[in-house]
Amino acid sequence: MTSEQPRSTPSGLAIILAAGEGTRMKSTTPKVLHKVAGRSMLANTLAAVAAAGMERLAVVVGPGHEDVAKEARAVAAGAEVFVQSERLGTAHAVLAARAALETGADHLIVVFADTPLIQPGTFRAMREALAAGAAVVALGFEARDAAGYGRLLTKNDELVAIREHRDASEAERATTLCNAGLMALDGRVALSILDAIASNNAQKEFYLTDAVEIARARGLATRVVRAPEEEVMGVNDRVQLAAAEAVAQRRLREKAMRAGVTMTAPETVFMCHDTIVGRDTVIEPHVFFGPGVTIGEGSVVKAFSHFEGAVVAGDASVGPFARLRPGADIATGVKIGNFVEIKSARIGAGSAVSHLSYIGDSTVGVKANIGAGTITCNYDGFNKARTEIGDGAFIGSNSALVAPVKIGAGAYVGSGSVITKDVEPDALAVGRARQFEKAGWAAALRKSREGKEKKRP
Ligand code: UD1
Ligand code: CA
Repeated sequence: MTSEQPRSTPSGLAIILAAGEGTRMKSTTPKVLHKVAGRSMLANTLAAVAAAGMERLAVVVGPGHEDVAKEARAVAAGAEVFVQSERLGTAHAVLAARAALETGADHLIVVFADTPLIQPGTFRAMREALAAGAAVVALGFEARDAAGYGRLLTKNDELVAIREHRDASEAERATTLCNAGLMALDGRVALSILDAIASNNAQKEFYLTDAVEIARARGLATRVVRAPEEEVMGVNDRVQLAAAEAVAQRRLREKAMRAGVTMTAPETVFMCHDTIVGRDTVIEPHVFFGPGVTIGEGSVVKAFSHFEGAVVAGDASVGPFARLRPGADIATGVKIGNFVEIKSARIGAGSAVSHLSYIGDSTVGVKANIGAGTITCNYDGFNKARTEIGDGAFIGSNSALVAPVKIGAGAYVGSGSVITKDVEPDALAVGRARQFEKAGWAAALRKSREGKEKKRP
């Protein structure tokens, strides 16, 4: 009996080409830093390769693109950054990361950072093809319009060559199986194949795509893995950026709905890559989720609400027209009503802020009632200060709470108060001009003016 060696998981190195100039974006921001689903295209790409188990990430940036390098390190702490000082082609760009290649990995994947919709499963399929014996794996798609793309030339399901559009014959140009550009190579032979690539083509560039023919000349196996065209969409201008965003949004909505979220009009709900919405939560039309938002189970998000960096627990009701800003922390069963803005504030379980309020830099206890038009005055032009509202407190409508200030548990604040001093628990505080009344005053006024009215213009 032969004892089988337990095969360890192959190690993976991804080289992410982020050196693109992106001139067609007409932007001072480098192309790969433009956002899709609330994070840069580069971050989307890095997340996909990391999710496919590539443990080493090498990012190739253009000269002077320090901001791209910074983003790479920010989203993937271990990412190594290399600079391609001259733009001499995709293979040349990969070789800018030679130091990473030299340390070796079982699998090498080359990715373009302007392909933000690529999915981890596609990289996994490419890695499986390597594990099954291929030395070079190209990613192919059926193009609706193949013009401009490199063509995958196949024979009996084998990948024979990749021909750039410019270098292709009429017959080759008539084929529609195109090269997405992303490629996987067996790490043992990758460097020697890359070093063999020459620049003898229409563009005088070092084409990564030549890796296929070089591998075959050495008797190595080459294969195609296919992906839907939508997934390999490259972004070159802002029209394509919006098209990529639309696909990303559709995916996020579908994922949420499949996980048990109801969306009345999903096409009007905008989410981020990290938006979390719990089961049985209902999202009404026209809701926007910026980065860092979590909504618990069984809540209702009413129409036209806007969220960023906010956490809402379960069984809550938010909106319509609510704005939850960073640090909003809404507990179970809370009601946040229309035209309410919350920032850096904890609202305790069962409390209600139902109408037209601003609650910022505050802590509100459980079962408190914040009346319509309540404002926490948290900023004096220099510093921010906190407001604390105890459990079961009742803040009358149109009150201004001038921070720093504490309203004790169970206390009442009379409507229209300007509260500048702490209020004891269970007390009543009223801070407004006292009402007075003069009987008959209005009638006397009218009488004294009789016959003296000015004509209205
Ligand atoms: C490339 C493929 C082509 C494929 C197409 C898919 C090659 C030779 N061709 O062509 O088969 O159909 O993508 O969109 O690979 N880059 C660098 N440094 C360079 C050159 C390119 O970093 O010197 C980066 C670019 O920023 C971009 C990517 O590599 O992210 C692809 O380069 P690009 O010039 O757009 O290649 P295509 O001609 O579109
Ligand atoms: Ca391109």
